[in-house]
Amino acid sequence: MKGKPKILVIHGPNLNMLGRREPTLYGSATLEEIDAEIKETAQQLSITAETFQSNDEGAIIEKIHEAIETCDAVIINPAAYTHTSVAIRDALLMLDVPIVEVHLSNIYQREAFRHRSFVSDVATARVAGFGKDGYLMAVRALSDMMKEGSGH
Ligand code: DQA
Repeated sequence: MKGKPKILVIHGPNLNMLGRREPTLYGSATLEEIDAEIKETAQQLSITAETFQSNDEGAIIEKIHEAIETCDAVIINPAAYTHTSVAIRDALLMLDVPIVEVHLSNIYQREAFRHRSFVSDVATARVAGFGKDGYLMAVRALSDMMKEGSGH
């Protein structure tokens, strides 16, 4: 690992609407505010965090391809694509770095179609139900994991 470890944080579709989107489920913070907290937490841990959001499956896949060469860990909330996208799963399978699947809500307390994730068995770990704090927990856990040199 050259220089500071780098984490890529990917947010899937409709997460750009956080703050306005079903706030009782997803909280009142905007994505901009969440991304700022992620970057601040990373900075405190002497790691770099890049954040990315797209409503487009192909753009998310291309970002994962880019991460193969450039990132030391990935945090992904694939949003609705969690439950549908074999293509995002296949892209994640190419990564040889720790992956954390994050969900703001506890998907297991919700509709049955949200209980299936195409990502969970490809991910190193999953955090669901802690709202935006889930991203910060994932950053801290990955930082520890990268510093210990484990997690692959
Ligand atoms: C979500 C849960 C998904 O089921 C949903 O489609 C989302 C957000 C979450 O963060 O809780 O868009 O990934």
